Amino acid sequence: MNLPFSLEGRIAVVTGGSSGIGAAIVARFLAAGALVTIADRLPPAGDDGDYVRTDVSNEDEVAALLDGVRSRHGRLDILINNAGIQPLGVTFDTVTSSVLRRTFEVNVHGVTYGIKHASRLMEKGGRIINMASFVGLLGVPGGTAYAASKAAVIHLTKCAAIELAARGLTVNAIAPGTILTPAVTGIPDNPEIAFAETRTPMGRLGAPDEVAAAVHFLASDEASYVTGAILPVDGGISAGWERYDLSLPNEISLCGEWHDPQS
Ligand SMILES: NC(=O)c1ccc[n+]([C@@H]2O[C@H](COP(=O)([O-])OP(=O)(O)OC[C@H]3O[C@@H](n4cnc5c(N)ncnc54)[C@H](O)[C@@H]3O)[C@@H](O)[C@H]2O)c1
Repeated sequence: MNLPFSLEGRIAVVTGGSSGIGAAIVARFLAAGALVTIADRLPPAGDDGDYVRTDVSNEDEVAALLDGVRSRHGRLDILINNAGIQPLGVTFDTVTSSVLRRTFEVNVHGVTYGIKHASRLMEKGGRIINMASFVGLLGVPGGTAYAASKAAVIHLTKCAAIELAARGLTVNAIAPGTILTPAVTGIPDNPEIAFAETRTPMGRLGAPDEVAAAVHFLASDEASYVTGAILPVDGGISAGWERYDLSLPNEISLCGEWHDPQS
């Protein structure tokens, strides 16, 4: 692959790198020359990159992971806070304290611990990229736990960006639309797939590498003046309604002047 945005020699950690979007980020980073450590509860299928078994909801494990990478490689340049669980369809009728707690422990506490300990270890130029979601930007039914956790990721990204800017670290987030990963395709007759196909302006789901490509840019030197940004990679679904059926009012003609109905 002939890739722009070299990451030659960069020391990167990708949480949730064993599957889906995370695995696509790992593949892209390796192709761009980075040395990658995968931090996941489960091991990766292949033998690309180092693997450290990590539960991101456990602060001690996250701290040990990042300290370990820094002491093995002498630096930590890039952290991708990608690990997440996706309990959609949890309404206010059905939400329980355990679903709420676990979703926030992984998706919100995990990202917070990653930012806290990576920023302690990174030098000027360090990059932190968090995986949010389009449902963190838009309210959705059944988003009680998941969408709220991703809205928190967006706000954590902005808070961290302003706190860490003076130290030369950038913090950004990607807000993917519905992406073809095991978390989505592994659910039999997943209604989210049909929903996304009809409602996404581009008319299709995204591929993991389309998200990884945006992460790759944000991790590169070329993104040096980008911080606190939330980048949708969603086929347009967060841009607005893809259908808004209105008829043209009588007093407006497509090419002509405005005709005041009172005159
Ligand atoms: N697939 C989508 O449509 C979509 C859309 C928007 C956002 N996202 C977000 O993208 C990220 C990746 O999602 P995916 O679709 O690739 O999911 P996935 O289930 O394919 O991969 C998630 C990975 O995270 C790991 N993981 C889960 N909990 C963990 C924990 N506590 N500690 C360490 N690792 C853990 C899993 O083992 C898995 O390898 C998630 O944060 C998800 O919320 C996904």
